[in-house]
Amino acid sequence: MKILIIGATSKTAEAIARNIYSTTNFELALMTREKVFSRDILRIKPIICDYMNPEALKAAVNFIQPQCIVNCVCAENVDECEKDHSKAIALNVTLVENLVSICRIKNIHLISFSSDYVFDGEKGPYSEDARPNPISFYGKTKHIAENTIRTGMMKGTIIRTNVIFGVSSFGKKNFIDFLIDKFEEGKPFGIVGSQFCNPVLTNEIALAVKSAIINSLYGVFHVGGSTYLSRYEIAKHVERIFGYAPEDIENSIINMIPSSELKQVAPRPLRGGLKTEISCDSLGLVFSDFDSALQNYKLQVNMKQKFYENYLI
Ligand SMILES: NC(=O)c1ccc[n+]([C@@H]2O[C@H](COP(=O)([O-])OP(=O)(O)OC[C@H]3O[C@@H](n4cnc5c(N)ncnc54)[C@H](OP(=O)(O)O)[C@@H]3O)[C@@H](O)[C@H]2O)c1
Repeated sequence: MKILIIGATSKTAEAIARNIYSTTNFELALMTREKVFSRDILRIKPIICDYMNPEALKAAVNFIQPQCIVNCVCAENVDECEKDHSKAIALNVTLVENLVSICRIKNIHLISFSSDYVFDGEKGPYSEDARPNPISFYGKTKHIAENTIRTGMMKGTIIRTNVIFGVSSFGKKNFIDFLIDKFEEGKPFGIVGSQFCNPVLTNEIALAVKSAIINSLYGVFHVGGSTYLSRYEIAKHVERIFGYAPEDIENSIINMIPSSELKQVAPRPLRGGLKTEISCDSLGLVFSDFDSALQNYKLQVNMKQKFYENYLI
């Protein structure tokens, strides 16, 4: 089995590559826009490709001949998507459209990521069959991409996830890193108490991707941690587990603030997040609670467990 991962420098791709490389005998092609890997390694081939060019993408897929493509490319900054529609459409929609037509013709299994931001956040967490109603431009692009895969008459898997964290050889930061940086800085800071989600470690997303590949699972799957909490509660857990909690609770440097105080350009779903029971059954997985996932992340950060690190230029 040969798997092509596009957007291989992403946080999610790194965990997927690590898991597939260390637990299967599959071959991996890691596609990036620029040269970042120093050399081929056993069962891993780096591919540089201007994948936003449909002809270049088609030629690369013809050359690699994968049975499965995992698309990790995205315009991820929700506020930037609100301001720069053309970039958001190109990365989140047009690339998926191009991949769907290639995969349909060549009978390739396509796995692509979506988000709880396809929902409006009125009544989360949401189940797999809840009705999307995106309120941000980012959410709209993700919803259009989902529909493209759904109606694409091909082997398509949509993995919706939310607030992901994991180590990155490319220094790509996540919300937990943002909090740790704030604790290190030591100055009081505000975190919203009204935005809810169920954060998940990239390792667990990798397990879901591997299960979808091995078991040929198509359709929509939800991948999220088993703890549903607000951004403020996330900060309190990080404060405790990463050892920043003051002895006197009154001296915590985190303040709970209302969403309006952040002046975010794009509206956010307030009660977002994803129910995962149905997906867990199909994928044969149980996702960790937030404390366990954070402990795991702390270990990975301390051990500098970055899969790509030895292969970078
Ligand atoms: N992060 C979250 O909390 C979150 C939440 C819900 C859903 N998701 C979804 O999960 C998937 C993976 O997310 P991630 O956080 O792992 O991705 P990420 O770390 O932000 O990486 C995105 C990748 O997109 C590629 N890319 C191509 N053109 C780009 C451009 N102009 N600007 C930035 N990146 C560009 C890059 O790959 P190369 O440089 O290798 O080509 C980059 O590594 C995405 O579909 C995302 O929407 C993420």
